[in-house]
Amino acid sequence: MFTSKIAGIGSYLPKNKVTNEDLKQYMDTSDEWIQERTGIKERRYAHRTEETTTTMAVEASKIAIERAGITAQDIDFIVFATLSPDYYFPGCGVLVQRAMQMKEIGALDIRNQCSGFVYALSVADQFIKTGMYKNILVIGSEKHSFGLDFSTRGRNVSVIFGDGAGAVVLQPTEKQGQGIISTHLHSDGASAELLAMYNPGTHANHWVKDPVADYNDAVIGDMFMSKEMMDNAQNFPFMDGPAVFKKAIVKFPEVIMEALTKNGLATSDINLLIPHQANLRISQFVQQKLSLRDDQVFNNIQQYGNTTAASIPIALCQAWEEGLIKDGDLVCMAAFGSGFTWASALIRW
Ligand code: UT7
Repeated sequence: MFTSKIAGIGSYLPKNKVTNEDLKQYMDTSDEWIQERTGIKERRYAHRTEETTTTMAVEASKIAIERAGITAQDIDFIVFATLSPDYYFPGCGVLVQRAMQMKEIGALDIRNQCSGFVYALSVADQFIKTGMYKNILVIGSEKHSFGLDFSTRGRNVSVIFGDGAGAVVLQPTEKQGQGIISTHLHSDGASAELLAMYNPGTHANHWVKDPVADYNDAVIGDMFMSKEMMDNAQNFPFMDGPAVFKKAIVKFPEVIMEALTKNGLATSDINLLIPHQANLRISQFVQQKLSLRDDQVFNNIQQYGNTTAASIPIALCQAWEEGLIKDGDLVCMAAFGSGFTWASALIRW
């Protein structure tokens, strides 16, 4: 049986830098609050009309494909993770297939938000291991800036998120010990509404017992989309930040330890942990809990904010470009977010 290796990696960040100071013109916030609570200094926003989740994905993919030493026509499957697709349907995978003039290959979209890239990697890994595909393009891309509430009402969510894309090409390797060692996927839908965008959707309030007590009053709406929803800002993401934070700092260390224990490894064996860039305070908590040194954990949320499904491949790409990942290194990726879903992957580079 083959294992899967990352043969090429690329990322794309829009040019437009938005600082915490810049956000003050839209909402009541401060650089001090944002840095103290999240570590974020700035983020990137895509061009409103010229860049989409798919166009950013294509730019990242071009680099990953070139670095893998192949062409777009060699790709035999696409797995695309995003929560901010160009269209409600079809998914972004087919738009990448079209834009890059690929063969009539399969294209799968993954809807697992912050854990999306690790889920996508896990799915692609299974196809490589069975010998079904040889060059799989795995993408995480987000254009959050198009769908955030930039008024003070939405400030707990909107200051966190940024735009960007990352992509890898997964290929089989027969080199002993190299490649994806294992992936670990989890979910618990009990808190699905604590980090969610309810509308547009088909829920018709089916899940909501008491909208005000249960999930703030953001869930209101028994239609797919209505003027009332738009007027009341119910088409924006909702997050109970403290509840998500509390769960994240338990599940991140748990899923990292699960991966290590399964493979008879210890935290000291990790050369680089790439946590989903949710909040610098969460990464710092995880680092402390697992007694990891600074050089064992990579963070770039300070520059790019939280880019959801794109955050891990963007961070992985930057770490690799900076020479922080060498052949034979043990790289661990871990994520937690909306769903709740959480996941980890261990790779021997
Ligand atoms: O990647 C997806 C997964 N998401 C996460 O992992 C996010 C996890 N949660 C968090 O990162 C944090 O909960 C936040 C950064 C979102 C919020 O930090 P917090 O320390 O939990 O703040 P809070 O929501 O408890 O709000 C504290 C105060 C409130 O004011 P009052 O009620 O104490 O007067 C908020 O209204 O801070 C206020 N606040 C803000 N003030 C200035 C909320 N957002 C802002 C803001 N600027 N942007």
